[in-house]
Amino acid sequence: MQGDISEIEEYVRKIFVESPHVEDPDRKKLLQNFWENHTKEVVDLSLELAKKYGADREIVHLGALFHDFSLAYDSEPHDEVSADKAFEFLIVNWFNRDVAEKVRDIILKHRCKKFIPETLEEKIVSTADAIAHFIPAFYKGAAEVAREDYAEMIRGKIDKLEDEYERKVFFEDEKKILKKYMKEFKEKYYYKISNKTDA
Ligand SMILES: [Fe+2]
Ligand SMILES: [Fe+2]
Repeated sequence: MQGDISEIEEYVRKIFVESPHVEDPDRKKLLQNFWENHTKEVVDLSLELAKKYGADREIVHLGALFHDFSLAYDSEPHDEVSADKAFEFLIVNWFNRDVAEKVRDIILKHRCKKFIPETLEEKIVSTADAIAHFIPAFYKGAAEVAREDYAEMIRGKIDKLEDEYERKVFFEDEKKILKKYMKEFKEKYYYKISNKTDA
């Protein structure tokens, strides 16, 4: 498996999509949705940003793939647990220690809470994670499983999204793009529902 990211991607995909460790069908669906509409999006966005800003592609790819890994096991704090699990996985699979440490730090810092991104690669995954939270399909899938109203679910996330925009986006271009998304999100979901509630 050494150095072969497509095999590692398949390994992580299976944990989320097939989730052999999970029995509850709703939980399985949530994990599938999480892979399809979150992790995969974070990987794609991170790789785009890596190309745009000239970052190390392998480190960014691995960091994005494992950034929420422990959520598949419902294990929190997921930044710290996922960082440990990824580090162990990479060392066991004969990755260079320097790579394993850099990937661990990306994961550890992706929430910008206890630890703040410093390197380009750390900033990229944090930014991609924040952008991915603006993908409506993620909430659509989660709302379906929870049998909740999709727009209502998004409305409940507006504060979190705004907070992420402030703290987790490290590049001016992406700040501009997200500012536009945020406006659209608020117009589409937040204000519409507020008006409906007031009526
Ligand atoms: Fe996370
Ligand atoms: Fe995430």
